[in-house]
Amino acid sequence: MLSWDEFDTEEETVAKPAAPQAAASAAPDKLDSAAEASVHDARAVTADDSAAVARAKAALDQLDIAEGLAELEGEGARVTVDAKRMINCRADLNQLVPFKYDWAWQKYLDGCANHWMPQEVNMNADIALWKSQDGLTEDERRIVMRNLGFFSTADSLVANNLALAVYRLITNPECRQYILRQAFEEAIHTHAYQYCIESLGMDEGEIFNMYHEVPSVAKKAAWGLKYTRAISDPEFDTGTVETDKELLRNLIAYYCVLEGIFFYCGFTQILSMGRRNKMTGVAEQFQYILRDESMHLNFGIDVINQIKIENPHLWDAELKDEATQMILQGTQLEIEYARDTMPRGVLGMNAAMMEDYLKFIANRRLTQIGLKEEYPGTTNPFPWMSEIMDLKKEKNFFETRVTEYQTGGALAWD
Ligand SMILES: [Fe+2]
Ligand SMILES: [Fe+2]
Repeated sequence: MLSWDEFDTEEETVAKPAAPQAAASAAPDKLDSAAEASVHDARAVTADDSAAVARAKAALDQLDIAEGLAELEGEGARVTVDAKRMINCRADLNQLVPFKYDWAWQKYLDGCANHWMPQEVNMNADIALWKSQDGLTEDERRIVMRNLGFFSTADSLVANNLALAVYRLITNPECRQYILRQAFEEAIHTHAYQYCIESLGMDEGEIFNMYHEVPSVAKKAAWGLKYTRAISDPEFDTGTVETDKELLRNLIAYYCVLEGIFFYCGFTQILSMGRRNKMTGVAEQFQYILRDESMHLNFGIDVINQIKIENPHLWDAELKDEATQMILQGTQLEIEYARDTMPRGVLGMNAAMMEDYLKFIANRRLTQIGLKEEYPGTTNPFPWMSEIMDLKKEKNFFETRVTEYQTGGALAWD
């Protein structure tokens, strides 16, 4: 915990002149004119000022406050809850409170409480196993390589989409606060993959270029990027039915498909490895990432559903069909990825079981945004994955780890 005691001594002497101002507070006009005179004096160029300082003071004489604040997004009035909206909001976006979407703020707090760093995970056993001749089978090595290849760039694509497109277009400060947290978590995830790649002494060029060079990885990246193109154009803005729908398509592509389907084959494979006591450091990194990703996914679903509630005209038959198609295409690409990464049975699973699992996940993504299941009757072949994440048990599973890894230090003010 931080203590402020050691910083107190000097501050006290600076704080003393406050007394005369307190006395003047009974006469606000006097205070204002006194303060104004004092500010004016501070601006006056003195003999001690260098030419650069004099120029800076003169430049501030030209500052037009009204013109400067006109650049702010939204109207300048005090914000009420009713004025807040997920998209196309006209209220001032720098006024965080009053909250309208308490769930978004809660997710921000939960994300901060779950803070972790890749270096906290011990990688020694993984390094020994990876370097030993008969530590892992070829199929197991392929799984580790492919997944580090996919994830090392996928999280960067997600981060870019958030920072360069979504953040600007979601017009709600508590959601933006979470988006900033999520963007940082994506940076931590990319860091974690890089940390694994470096620890294991892998060929970095090979891993980071899989999204160009390995078709099953490249297809997933290309599919996601297609939905960023339009909205990351600085000229793009919401406000018409077509552009609002474009933003919704992006959110569905990234939250429901990229983070909600494309991550699931890899997570399952690496966690299955960890359950078999292999590559336990990599698996632990993936577990922390998965905990973050579960929250990203839930946040995205909440945002999508809130936009639908506030703009029911957008969620028409055409967009519902498109959204269904997007989720089905994503599922198909992930099934292909499963086949590429598991040409044979490995780690107690095979591509056919993964296909069932992905259909089970796809049903869930569809119903989460109000669409009907497209793979009726599919069951979950990996019930242990539900224990770890996804369904309602996710919180229980992580409860102990959350406590262990809560690092959000509190300041002591006494
Ligand atoms: Fe991530
Ligand atoms: Fe994420």
